[in-house]
Amino acid sequence: DTPLRDLAEARGRYLGTAVTAGKLTGGYADVAAAQFGSVTPGNEMKWGSVERTQGTYDWTGADRVVAFAEAHGQRVRGHTLVWHSQLPSWVTGGTWTADRLRTLMTDHIAAEAGRYKGRIDHWDVVNEPLNEDGTLRRSIFGATLGESYIADAFRAARAADPAAKLYLNDYSTDAIGAKSDGMYALVKRLLAQGVPVDGVGFQAHLVLGQVPSSLEANLRRFADLGVDVAITELDIRMTLPATEAKLTQQKADYASVLRACLAVTRCAGVTVWGFTDSDSWIPDFFPGQGAATPYDEALAPKPARAGIAEALAPV
Ligand code: G3I
Repeated sequence: DTPLRDLAEARGRYLGTAVTAGKLTGGYADVAAAQFGSVTPGNEMKWGSVERTQGTYDWTGADRVVAFAEAHGQRVRGHTLVWHSQLPSWVTGGTWTADRLRTLMTDHIAAEAGRYKGRIDHWDVVNEPLNEDGTLRRSIFGATLGESYIADAFRAARAADPAAKLYLNDYSTDAIGAKSDGMYALVKRLLAQGVPVDGVGFQAHLVLGQVPSSLEANLRRFADLGVDVAITELDIRMTLPATEAKLTQQKADYASVLRACLAVTRCAGVTVWGFTDSDSWIPDFFPGQGAATPYDEALAPKPARAGIAEALAPV
């Protein structure tokens, strides 16, 4: 059985997974290393993880994931430099002038992207900047700094790590619609201003049987702007319990997402948001739902894993 990472590489793509640093031993580590050519720390690189106390950095979890990747010939997707969630409480609880907040943000980017300079394949520089209607999210950054924070973040990331591909990432932008139209217009504006945006990430937290029919066309229209695209956090959730029929549908759904990426030349790869159901955020956030990943709780491959392999099969 050919490892998924090799199938993906042979098709000119990477297949990645989010991982949890504290679990990278035993069977979990074995599957992560054998099957995936890229890893994303699920939480360990978020601002709230690396600088809980202002000025005191803890890189333990992030370092562990990067070291694991380097030991197993994997790329790293850095996630994420600027996000409104999982911020340290000293950031959210502070009262900052615009100038001060902008400096905090760019200093944070310089510290983190600088620490891993040359070792990160893609950085999710800004995560989830948009509202559902495609307008700018009034997060602490959006409300205080306006849209300019996005350009400033990308410029700071480029300065800190010139080799990393810099991504703008969001959810519910997978289909053509109001939110992805907002993202499309935003990327166009940023490129017109000379902002160093290299790629757009589509999280793809999807629902069983509901892979958007416009996914491929959507990826293509962004690629046509002159940026790379990637599926960055794929999972496909179902109402529990999982039945054979649901798992068969999920197999088809995973395959169709992989095929959409393969159909678009500038689609760099696909990352699943946890490869095992035992390491998925879904049951905690959507009570009664789960079984969203390609391996079950006991690390046995599910039909979804075969769907990925079939989509990535040599042509
Ligand atoms: O680390 C603490 C632990 O000490 C404590 O005992 C436990 C009790 O709840 O919580 C642990 O923290 C949790 C953390 O994951 C690590 O497991 C947080 O409560 C929990 O909220 C956090 O959830 C993460 C979530 O982002 C937060 O928004 C998920 O693991 C992570 O998969 C998820 O990832 C996000 C992406 O970054 C962005 N896109 C959406 C995606 C899914 O929400």
